[in-house]
Amino acid sequence: MPTPAEPLPPTSARWDTIVIGAGAAGLFCAALAGQRGLKVLLLDHAEKLAEKIRISGGGRCNFTNRDAGPANFLSSNPDFCRSALARYTAADFIALVRRHGISFHEKHRGQLFCDGSSEQIIHMLVSECDSGGVERRQPCAVRAVRAIDGGFELDSDAGPLKTRQVVIATGGLSIPKIGATDFGYRIAKQFGHKLIEPRPALVPLTFDAAAWAPFVPLAGVSLEVAIETGQGRQRGPVAARGRDTGARFVEDLLFTHRGLSGPAVLQISSFWRPGDALRIDLGAGADLAARLREAKLSSRRQLGNELATWLPQRLASAWLDSHGLPAERAMPELRDRDLERLAQGLSRWTITPDGTEGFRKAEVTAGGVDTRELDSRTMASKRQPGLFFIGEVVDVTGWLGGYNFQWAWASAAACALGL
Ligand code: FDA
Repeated sequence: MPTPAEPLPPTSARWDTIVIGAGAAGLFCAALAGQRGLKVLLLDHAEKLAEKIRISGGGRCNFTNRDAGPANFLSSNPDFCRSALARYTAADFIALVRRHGISFHEKHRGQLFCDGSSEQIIHMLVSECDSGGVERRQPCAVRAVRAIDGGFELDSDAGPLKTRQVVIATGGLSIPKIGATDFGYRIAKQFGHKLIEPRPALVPLTFDAAAWAPFVPLAGVSLEVAIETGQGRQRGPVAARGRDTGARFVEDLLFTHRGLSGPAVLQISSFWRPGDALRIDLGAGADLAARLREAKLSSRRQLGNELATWLPQRLASAWLDSHGLPAERAMPELRDRDLERLAQGLSRWTITPDGTEGFRKAEVTAGGVDTRELDSRTMASKRQPGLFFIGEVVDVTGWLGGYNFQWAWASAAACALGL
């Protein structure tokens, strides 16, 4: 257990590095800095240590993605993440996990999860901190950070603290009820940094209640789709990374009472901007027109039953109903133009969300500290010597699938080597 915020003895009043925020990035950075011989203090205001790691990946922590690379991240400065990701890779973190004897498995497209529990990753990080002699205080709030000669002075629950360097690892705004705050953004602004406006990402999308009413009975229905938004200029596995380009994913979509969720929608939500439409292919890239033409020639099934062989039954019925198509009619009796219209509608369903479920439900925060004012090799502020920003507080946001933790590890490692 970390020590709560009792006053620190005067002998420890000066630190090489104080890391604020003991989440994924802060724990890892503190551990590596301590192991390099620096005198490190790690502070967090939350009661519980690393709550986001604990709840991540449904309790099993999708701790990295084997294939993580710069193309899996959004940022208004897309090349910024290259250096850190290249110098501390998924393979490096996997090697650390193996050294700690944590067994894991690949679930889907390179996503690695603990076989046991995400607690194992927290224990691993704490034991790495211990071997670096890192001092930890939690819960311990920091009220102010001031630049002084040769470093910084902090007002904290553990008393006034002096340090040569400060690392801000306080994350983004997602899930305020487990400790997310805008502290990192406030410190960034205090020292003259620009912010890329933070917004909820990897988040369910919502629709106007009246417009969504016909879909409410479909809550719980899930299917694989192809989904895109924006201009859709870059396609395929490498989705767009810049502010103004679109993206496309083939993943599962889930209908909810208020809108759409599931991996497909979480992925596209990071690219979605208010007013943008979503284009959804409910056939996930299959040639539905050809399938229906073929079924007309070879199947005696009713249209509703035929459609239910490749779409969830509830969705097939609701779709035919709302489009005035005869579910009971046998396939050979259907008009070609009705089948064509059906195929087109299913493969080009276009709908415009009216919002997101917000930071309350968002897995991450996109935007954050503008990376143009940070050194990509060390995460150091170009405005204030001795100040560093790592992890989610920075304007680098990963796709769903272990990429956000890989950014936390990689940015922490880059920073620890630069302290
Ligand atoms: P993180 O949020 O982990 O840590 C920030 C720390 O700073 C917190 O401990 C907080 O208490 C502290 N803090 C905040 N304000 C402070 C203040 N004023 N003073 C002191 N301390 C302060 N990613 C992934 O790759 N794989 C996954 O499986 C998942 N799953 C997942 C599930 C859910 C439900 C969520 C919400 C998120 C995920 N993520 C994920 C995303 C991942 O959890 C996230 O990107 C990282 O935890 C970010 O690490 P950081 O260390 O930057 O912030």
